[in-house]
Amino acid sequence: MFIPEEIINEIADKTDIGDIIGSYITLKRTGRNLTGLCPFHTEKTPSFSVTPEKGMFYCFGCQKSGNVFSFIMEMEKLTFPEAVQYLAQKAGISLDIEDRESASAENTFRRQLYDLYEKVSLSFHYILTKKDSSEKARKYLEDRGINPDTIEKFRLGYAPGDRRWLFNFLKKKSYSEDFLSRCGLFSSNYRGVSIFSGRIIFPIISKSGRVIAFGGRSPDGSPPKYINSPETPIFRKSDELYGFNLAQKEIRKNDSVFIVEGYMDTMAMVQAGIENTVAPLGTAFTENHANIILKNCSAVVLVFDGDEAGLKATVKSSYICEKAGLECSVVELPAGSDPADILKNSGAEALKNILKYPINCFDFLLNKYKDIYDLTREDGIKSFLNRLFMFVSIQESEVRRTGRLKALSEALNMDYRPVYDDFTSYIKKDFKNKTESGVVPGGRQGISSELYLMLAAVDNYDYFYMIRDEFSIDDIQDTAARNLYIILEECYRNNSFSLEIVLEKIDNQDLKKLVAKKLSSDEFTMNPKQFIEDSINMIKLKNLQIKRLQLEKKIGKDNGADPYSMEKLIAEKLFYDKEIEKLKGTNGNVRVTE
Ligand code: CTP
Ligand code: MN
Repeated sequence: MFIPEEIINEIADKTDIGDIIGSYITLKRTGRNLTGLCPFHTEKTPSFSVTPEKGMFYCFGCQKSGNVFSFIMEMEKLTFPEAVQYLAQKAGISLDIEDRESASAENTFRRQLYDLYEKVSLSFHYILTKKDSSEKARKYLEDRGINPDTIEKFRLGYAPGDRRWLFNFLKKKSYSEDFLSRCGLFSSNYRGVSIFSGRIIFPIISKSGRVIAFGGRSPDGSPPKYINSPETPIFRKSDELYGFNLAQKEIRKNDSVFIVEGYMDTMAMVQAGIENTVAPLGTAFTENHANIILKNCSAVVLVFDGDEAGLKATVKSSYICEKAGLECSVVELPAGSDPADILKNSGAEALKNILKYPINCFDFLLNKYKDIYDLTREDGIKSFLNRLFMFVSIQESEVRRTGRLKALSEALNMDYRPVYDDFTSYIKKDFKNKTESGVVPGGRQGISSELYLMLAAVDNYDYFYMIRDEFSIDDIQDTAARNLYIILEECYRNNSFSLEIVLEKIDNQDLKKLVAKKLSSDEFTMNPKQFIEDSINMIKLKNLQIKRLQLEKKIGKDNGADPYSMEKLIAEKLFYDKEIEKLKGTNGNVRVTE
């Protein structure tokens, strides 16, 4: 099979070698490289190194080296074209010519969007900084202590109050109405009405420096205070951190990043000279964010408001950060104030001083909970420990666990031993809870969870791609579910879907009836994307649990086997344990809230 070079380059661009190799072995960041135990020879100290910037790996022990393609060829015993195919699929790149044509239509749309957002952002910026009519907006920013330099850096803008101005302006620039209606700048109910009119504009800029969305604040605070762009093919909220493009260099240099709550806070920090600062886009801090950060530095400082909501966010975010392997510490601000307030009221030096002494997130939470719970009472101690054991158990290092347990026993004025014992039983109980609650519900109404998922996909074909991204036909056991999978896959490949086609293709009369029945119910209309995502994760989890169980049985039986193959089995089981834990993390089972 001939694969054009541009496609190979595209695959290499979209593939993160660290992620790929990291799914085989554990990699730790050391400066620009990731290191771990070499998968190609046996070793106890890591001499295997991956350099993501260059897309290369190298082992100082066995001298093996290469790029992501040769890695996969070696690991999966594949030929080059097969490895290309394998990585193309992972990167979501099709090698099929027809698919590539429709992908190029999608690409054209994306290009047009990039182009549009860039132009609109320049216009908004010009209007804010140059037009008389923006006097009020400029005054507003000035009153909030934002200086012209910061306005330039963040390319702030102002969208004219006339709700139809933008639409008319862009139509004059010969954008089609159809394109404009899909570009995310206009109301979906009222044609041509700009969702941002009369607002101060915060362009959201991608890692590579392109404007991909906007946030807009109403200058008089009239609700909604902020409006953000809807998701488009170039904008996925949970993939972005505000200010990241400006901060990246400093994040790498300092090997740490400050996370604040919002747009204004990010700007305030940067204006005060703390340039390694980012904020999520009005959503919670996610695992996704943690992974973006992990690629650039090893430490995170959370800078949240000292109120109750701030504490909740701190608990959740620090759990996510530590779980991802980031060092996490916390700066608590006086209740009801944020970095923007502090900069404005007390100046840059004051803000810098507050940020000078972050506290490790565990110590921070320990102190908080010490005040919240009554440690003279048994139930107080119990809640206190339960909250904090969670942060002990996510630490992989035994030294750290012990350190944290010691800190707990000191806080309680107790010996180490009973705290340690309680922790051990907490871990056991936690494990049991997780395995029990994690088991897949057997679908519903006597339908297997696989079939139930496929029925949901027939009803919501737009999300079928999520299933085919995760499962190939061989991953599915249920015969009826397999049937539907094949039919939907055909639709997908032919790029044509209709319910008639699907029903037409079902041979089994019972299945046909079932599908028809489900389609006419409204069972899958509530939040189908979430449902499909959850079901996929549940099924993956179930499959992993089955595999692990089989392994456990094998390990039990193979008592007399040679230590080498035993070691391999155990390593394999550990792999499944890890994957299962990972999935549970994404499955809403992580009990970090109440
Ligand atoms: N946010 C949002 N929609 C809202 C309110 C908030 O998307 N209706 C997001 C914004 O990204 C905002 C962040 O949540 O920056 C934090 O909210 P908040 O603290 O209320 O706003 P500030 O950033 O402090 O803005 P300001 O100081 O202008 O009030
Ligand atoms: Mn604020």
